[in-house]
Amino acid sequence: MVRRRRHAAPAPTSAPPLPSGAEKTARVRAMFDTIAPRYDLMNRLMTFGLDQAWRRGAVAALALPADALVLDLACGTGDLSRLALRRGYRVVGADLSAGMLAANGAATPLVEADGGSLPFADGAFEGLVCGYALRNFTDLAATLDECARVLRPGGRLAVLEVDAPTSRLWRAGYDVWFNKAVPALGGAISDRDAYRYLPRSVAYLPPAAGLRRLLLGAGFSAVGIRPLAGGLSQLVVATRAGAP
Ligand SMILES: C[S@@+](CC[C@H](N)C(=O)[O-])C[C@H]1O[C@@H](n2cnc3c(N)ncnc32)[C@H](O)[C@@H]1O
Repeated sequence: MVRRRRHAAPAPTSAPPLPSGAEKTARVRAMFDTIAPRYDLMNRLMTFGLDQAWRRGAVAALALPADALVLDLACGTGDLSRLALRRGYRVVGADLSAGMLAANGAATPLVEADGGSLPFADGAFEGLVCGYALRNFTDLAATLDECARVLRPGGRLAVLEVDAPTSRLWRAGYDVWFNKAVPALGGAISDRDAYRYLPRSVAYLPPAAGLRRLLLGAGFSAVGIRPLAGGLSQLVVATRAGAP
């Protein structure tokens, strides 16, 4: 006898839908204002300190002459800016959250701005770094268009983002860590809701092929996307198309 499997109704979920549009911008800004004071500590704990090595790799990937002018978009507390300064670049930081900018200790000019509408002239920068912010942008395509606009032709882009490991074992550990341990840790030393949102916000990220398409459409060439630490993170590099 063939037993029919009854399809259970989907389990009720307590997680609210992810916000979009102006609501997303307002919530992301408020969330980063709230977590700014403990942001660096949480980063080190969440990544076991690996994030700094990934940031060094991103800054090195720019491969620009010393003295090049680099925008650190969504600079937050300034980790990437500090590393870029150390390589001899001149750096400007821009971020949506006044709280993150207030916690930014890097010796750079800081601008409160939305990545989707940057207050900089066309071709103002030779390089652009952006750490762990793609999934927070309200309109990713518009923001990548802005990145291309403010870079001069031949200018370099290096972006870090979270990723998801492809190995099953690695993925299982990652899921437990980011979905269970990180929100608990966030609740203990920062803000539980914000660190619950972190794993959920990965849903905003397009897959690599989609991200590559967006970058090419925005005016970038030589797009490279490479996983770091077995897919815990990813580094995206690209060159602003056009003759320098
Ligand atoms: C996860 S933090 C990363 C901070 C820093 N880049 C780093 O690597 O540690 C994301 C940052 O993106 C900023 N952000 C989010 N949406 C933004 C937007 N639309 N425009 C500019 N910055 C934004 C947040 O305020 C926050 O500082």
